[in-house]
Amino acid sequence: MSRLKLAVMISGRGSNLQALIDATSDPAFPAEIILVLSNRPGAKGLERAAKAGIPTHVIDHKEFADRATFDREMTAAMEAAGTELVCLAGFMRLLSDEFVDHWRDRMINIHPSLLPAFKGLEVQERVLARGARFAGCTVHYVRKEMDTGPIIVQAVVPVHPDDTPDSLAERVLAREHDIYPLAVRLIAEGRVTIDENDRAVIAGAVAQENTLLNPVG
Ligand code: GAR
Repeated sequence: MSRLKLAVMISGRGSNLQALIDATSDPAFPAEIILVLSNRPGAKGLERAAKAGIPTHVIDHKEFADRATFDREMTAAMEAAGTELVCLAGFMRLLSDEFVDHWRDRMINIHPSLLPAFKGLEVQERVLARGARFAGCTVHYVRKEMDTGPIIVQAVVPVHPDDTPDSLAERVLAREHDIYPLAVRLIAEGRVTIDENDRAVIAGAVAQENTLLNPVG
């Protein structure tokens, strides 16, 4: 079985990278990580990759005069490694249109909200400020506008009355670690296509009847 070749792009902690490392460490998983790329030399995720024996590459954005040159360098590194799918996992740099076009339908991202709600940063602060009853996370293909693109998988997480941004982020993060490997597996199994309205369609997906209520009682 040939496994889909993943490059994971990180900027920091790398807990989603770890979830992908754990999933791909099973030889039966249909994808493997061939490269971890970081724009920050000290990113903790680099240690996780090294520990798992995965090649790492640091491309420090501070050493580049402009975004386009930095992005081209990242593309060159990922292509040299034979990347088939780019996974953004807490990569905290905006990407040039050229880069997004180059990897169109071959690059996915994880975001800690139920997109298209709460794009951008400081997500859980805004979820709590708006009194939303549910938070969640999304894995999606990347398009030029930040935090947009065909949605592959989402998980819904209830907001608790006593939540702080940190406690909510922690509950959401636990689900991120489930849905990122799930989205990668669906793609690697060839079950994800993008329709003419730029929506992702999942072959063999089972519809769920459950209605979620929060609060209950
Ligand atoms: C995750 O919560 C991810 O969803 C978020 O950054 C965190 C990275 O954590 N990404 C974004 O906000 C992208 N817009 P990690 O480094 O532990 O995976």
